[in-house]
Amino acid sequence: MKILAGNWKMNTSFEEGYNLIETLKAELSPERLGDVVVVIAPPSIQLTQAVDLLVDYPELAVAAQNGHAGDYGAFTGEVSMAQLADAGADAVIIGHSERRQFFGESDSVVNKKVLSALEQELRPIVCVGEVLEVRKAGKHLSAVKEQLRLALEGVSGDLAENLVIAYEPVWAIGTGETATAAQAQEMHAHLRGLLRELYGDLADHLPIVYGGSCKPSNAAELFAQADVNGGLIGGASLVAADFIALADLLHKS
Ligand code: 13P
Repeated sequence: MKILAGNWKMNTSFEEGYNLIETLKAELSPERLGDVVVVIAPPSIQLTQAVDLLVDYPELAVAAQNGHAGDYGAFTGEVSMAQLADAGADAVIIGHSERRQFFGESDSVVNKKVLSALEQELRPIVCVGEVLEVRKAGKHLSAVKEQLRLALEGVSGDLAENLVIAYEPVWAIGTGETATAAQAQEMHAHLRGLLRELYGDLADHLPIVYGGSCKPSNAAELFAQADVNGGLIGGASLVAADFIALADLLHKS
């Protein structure tokens, strides 16, 4: 399976979100997408608008950008995985570096969220990635593998088939600087090795997508790599023409 996910982050008004979704609906027919699954992740307040607009478009899935690991309770300001599932979300982004960096999400919190999402039958898009100092120190492969191992602790083989992994080098997010295709492939192959240790042959079927300044001008090379099964797109997912171009490039890859 190939996945193109658009993480809108804390952007878009209701009207902008509506217009973006209507354009994607009009352009991205099942024939055009082929084996590409498109996921959009609007801000949580606009989640139900997206779910309602896409009710007859199963090829366009809806993800939340975050969720709380508890089901219900006294957690002011939070939205739980159970509530996201109840709202009609298909998937949830977990452990994005912005959550880790700005909201203090530890590996253990990320792990709890992954387990909770799977319990609620939400597809977790589990994000991992190194900061620049770690790459400069040459420790990126081991550090990111460990991040993923901790995120997946306790995820059984039965549940693992719903996982999507996103490799997002922190130094490439929103900076205009993308990982080279070779850097992405090296990391993705390394992470697939861990998935194989944990889940055997299932590893070959689990999508590992790349994120970090991915745009139409650099995506073809990234998507051509054997272990790059799609993209998690920030900035370019807010521009309908760019996101559609990325879907076309992924389809052709
Ligand atoms: P950019 O594509 O804007 O670099 O963002 C990537 C990202 O963080 C997606 O989750």
